[in-house]
Formats: sequence, structure tokens, C-alpha cells
Amino acid sequence: MLNDFSTIHLPKVENVMEEFIDENAKADTLKKAMLYSIHAGGKRIRPLLLLATAKSFGTTITWEHLAVAGALEMVHTYSLIHDDLPAMDNDDLRRGKPTNHKVFGEGMAVLAGDGLLTSAFELTAKAFHGEFVAPLAHAAGASGMVAGQVLDIEGEEKSLTLDELKEVHEKKTGALLRFAVSTGVAMAVEKETPKISENMLVYAKSFGLAFQIRDDILDITKSTEELGKTAGKDIVMNKSTYPALLGLDGAKQALSEELEKAKRALKNVESLDSNFDGQLLEEFIEMLEIKAGE
Ligand code: IPE
Ligand code: IPE
Ligand code: MG
Ligand code: MG
Ligand code: MG
Repeated sequence: MLNDFSTIHLPKVENVMEEFIDENAKADTLKKAMLYSIHAGGKRIRPLLLLATAKSFGTTITWEHLAVAGALEMVHTYSLIHDDLPAMDNDDLRRGKPTNHKVFGEGMAVLAGDGLLTSAFELTAKAFHGEFVAPLAHAAGASGMVAGQVLDIEGEEKSLTLDELKEVHEKKTGALLRFAVSTGVAMAVEKETPKISENMLVYAKSFGLAFQIRDDILDITKSTEELGKTAGKDIVMNKSTYPALLGLDGAKQALSEELEKAKRALKNVESLDSNFDGQLLEEFIEMLEIKAGE
């Protein structure tokens, strides 16, 4: 079902991003650099999660939904370009291709990121009378993802406690995923009841934390080829991660606990709202499960 949903909607999200960049990026090299990272692919989890959330509450997907979903993916892609820079994680490979700065140089990679970030807000402003501009800025910026990246860099110099690490993950990765869910709900539900909002927030928070715990696990259990990015980087960079703090088994345990929490929250929403169908969002949870022995 998620497969079908993604086959129908992802090409439309891709189109919205591509057209917007093509029309708006005026310098040739800049346009090439922005499109290079967008075209490099990626799982497109964030736009899909946003659209799937709206759909779960019965919405029909329109251009406006696609625009905000595309903008979210543009913000995410910018965050990866900057995350890979020598001044940050210093990575050569992303989405199975050389990183943006390896192809276009560091200055251009910084600017391609800037271009994607600012264009994302221009695009968001064109949908729903700009309703989601401020929430996206809040999630992406100094109180969300950017703050998380700061804590992540500072964390290289010290060993973090589990609570501190959770905060890094909730900000650097969780903030954009929470935006996907809360925006999907806001687009679809006319009057959110506190109970529904509360449970959807639990779903989003647990999913976001689980997503980064899994990323940390895969960094040590998968190969560079499988990941499309350099494996084993977290140990080299002295990052605090779930496996570093809890061991591999402890990290897997923490992952499955977060996924259970997310599942329970979905069940609660199903019992609160008869129009809500949790199937798609449950498939997002299943996507993060790591089977025994894997
Ligand atoms: C990578 O995100 C960065 C993290 C927040 C863990 P994704 O795993 O969603 O990367 P892509 O978009 O699929 O390349
Ligand atoms: C990145 O986390 C989170 C971002 C905000 C980009 P990581 O540094 O662990 O992501 P990868 O492993 O490089 O994709
Ligand atoms: Mg990083
Ligand atoms: Mg990184
Ligand atoms: Mg990682």
C-alpha cells in the first residue's frame, strides 16, 4: 500500500521540486549543483510521511500538499549537502554519488544548500497562503535541525549522556520528521482534538528518534555500497550515537521500544477518530524495523 502510494505521489513531488528549481535558479552552475543533489535520489521519507499523514485522515492530495512536501525534501537535501562538508562530517559519498562539494567545490556546495533552503521557503509560501512557512522555519532552523547539528558537532568533543544524545537526535533528525507529521495532520483535520494531536506527536517523536537510532546502527552494520554513504563514519568522527552509548544490542532494543511506542500511538488515534486509517503510517514503522540477526 505504501508502495502504491509512493508510486503515485513521489513522481509528482519530484516534478514540483524540479520545476521550481529550474524556473528560479538563475545562475547555471548553481542550478546544476542544486539539481545534482535533488536528482541523486534518497528515500524521500519526509515528503512521503507528510503526504501519507494527510491521506490517513482522508485528504485528497493537491498541488499545495505536494509543494510543501517538496519544500521539506529541499530543506532536508540542503541539510545533507552542508552535513557532508569538510567543516562538518567531511563525507565524499552521498546517495551513492560523490558529495556535492566533491563535484562542484565547497563554495558552490554551500551556495547550493543556501539556494535549496531559501527556495524551499518561497515554495512553501505559495501554498496554503503561507500557513506552513513559520512551522517549517521553526523545525529547520535555530530551534530545530540547525540546533541539533550544533549539538552534534559539539558532541564530538565529549561523551554525551543518553538524555543529551536524545536531544541531539530529536533536533537534528526529529524536528523535520515531526514537521512532516504535524503538517500532514494540520492540512487534513479541520479541528484537531488535543487527544489526537497528542498521540500523533508521540508517533512523530518516536518515529523521528527511531529513524536516527537506525541510521546510527546501520552506520556500523552495513557496507558503504549498501548505504550509498561512507560506512563507519561515526566512530571515525568520534560521534556520540546509540550504539556507542548502549552497544549494538542496546541500540536495537531502544529502536524497537520507540517503534512500539509509535505503534501504540497510532492505535490510539484509530480508536479516537473513525475516519483515520493508520495502515500507511504503520508501514513507515515497519520500514524501520531491524529483524533479529540482521
Ligand atoms: C539521512 O537522512 C540523514 C539523517 C537524518 C539520518 P535519510 O536517511 O532520509 O537520507 P536520504 O534522504 O534517504 O538520502
Ligand atoms: C545528519 O545526521 C542529520 C542531518 C540533519 C543532516 P548524520 O550525520 O548521522 O547523517 P548521515 O549519516 O551523514 O546521513
Ligand atoms: Mg552529521
Ligand atoms: Mg553525516
Ligand atoms: Mg549517520
